[in-house]
Amino acid sequence: DGGDMNMGGQPVPVIEGNFNRLLPIPNTVSGNTTLAAQATTANINGSNISVLGYQANDILGPAIRVNSGINTNINFQNDLSEKSNIHWHGLKIPANMDGHPAALVNPGSSFNYQFTINQRAGLCWYHPHPDRATGRQSFQGLAGLFIINDAEEAALNLPTGIYEIPLVIQDKRLTSSGITYNPSMGEVMSGYMGETIIVNGEASPYTEVATGFYRLRILNGSNARIYNLALSNNADMIIIGNDGGLLKNPATVKSVLLSPGERLDILVNFAGLTTGTEVFFESRMFDNGGSAQGKQGFKIMKFIITQTIYDSFTLPASLSSVNAISPSSSSKTRNFIINAMQMSDGMNMTGIHRINDKIYDTYRIDENVSANAIEIWVFDNSQGDEPHPMHLHGVHFQVLERSGGRAQLTASENGWKDTVLVMPRETVKIIIPFSTLTGVFVFHCHNLEHEDDGMMLQYQLT
Ligand code: C2O
Ligand code: CU
Ligand code: CU
Repeated sequence: DGGDMNMGGQPVPVIEGNFNRLLPIPNTVSGNTTLAAQATTANINGSNISVLGYQANDILGPAIRVNSGINTNINFQNDLSEKSNIHWHGLKIPANMDGHPAALVNPGSSFNYQFTINQRAGLCWYHPHPDRATGRQSFQGLAGLFIINDAEEAALNLPTGIYEIPLVIQDKRLTSSGITYNPSMGEVMSGYMGETIIVNGEASPYTEVATGFYRLRILNGSNARIYNLALSNNADMIIIGNDGGLLKNPATVKSVLLSPGERLDILVNFAGLTTGTEVFFESRMFDNGGSAQGKQGFKIMKFIITQTIYDSFTLPASLSSVNAISPSSSSKTRNFIINAMQMSDGMNMTGIHRINDKIYDTYRIDENVSANAIEIWVFDNSQGDEPHPMHLHGVHFQVLERSGGRAQLTASENGWKDTVLVMPRETVKIIIPFSTLTGVFVFHCHNLEHEDDGMMLQYQLT
């Protein structure tokens, strides 16, 4: 590229497929299982291509489904030709089981991830986390869902079985033989995006539905792409949960942003639609996404109504007990400036994405936090031009306030979160109740190119 290369990165246009391949549903396993990271092949968009997977012949790992309270024993077998590990995104587990970027498993070796599920129902997920290789290994395929169930959730009688559909939304850069991952300088700035949207490992899929309520459990498992999710018939989407489980009350929206790492639990109702009707799940254009995001609307997948049923499901007005943490209970406020450095000619092309002007260093503890402390952390992107989905390991938090940019909290930012989107010009304040799980955890931008570029720090809980 020449001297006038756009340092802000360019949008990568999505190319929609034909929506004529069936949506796969990930196979489900218990918390006592083996995940074997391996080079394998998967059939995507009609071609068998090389991918990395946690099981043979699939790009997506199995969905681990457990009840709250159980102990896991997950044997991670590293059959890759490079070091890797597994991070359990959203799980509140001890630091030595969390998949820290330096806690790696050698090729040909294995590690048992054993922990107790000490949290309420929710949709978590797992992916590799090796320092400076998280983006590449994840983009090549390594990812899977981790679903926790509990009694509070069961009592709501939410749509289940075929009426509960997990949707892992990702963008990939496909060739006839595999998945390309070679970010240019501009793509380190914007994050690496793909032209093909896959859901549960298939490009532009469809699924058949009946005229009732469906519970869609959605993960944005993309490296960098933010989606503005909506239904093509502009039907309501009822948000019932997010990263940390059920909301206190349902919230009805027409569209909702979902950034990398975030999850959504939404109900949609196809009642009243005639057989043969097609409704697309789509991503709409949005403002304020920096130079590379939100510039295009596109379809993600298709629902076809094929059956008329009578559905007696009624939505409870109250879903869960979530108590707001008072800002006055915070013992400390920490501020984090998260804008990228301004580029100038001749600058070193790595380490541009920083937090408080620091890039990640395994040997440096950036923040010391006391066990059981409640703290307010502020992510300040007020001078920045790029979106940053900020994620903390080891905790769930509540979002207190957003100033600048959208200047308010969204319907999906109630309840408990582990990742929060900070758009250009925004400052977002969160409140975090730390646990007694002492040790070293990371926090970082979940745009994985930003993370691998160094936009990650460590806190130590003591
Ligand atoms: Cu899903 Cu540290 O990440
Ligand atoms: Cu995480
Ligand atoms: Cu970022």
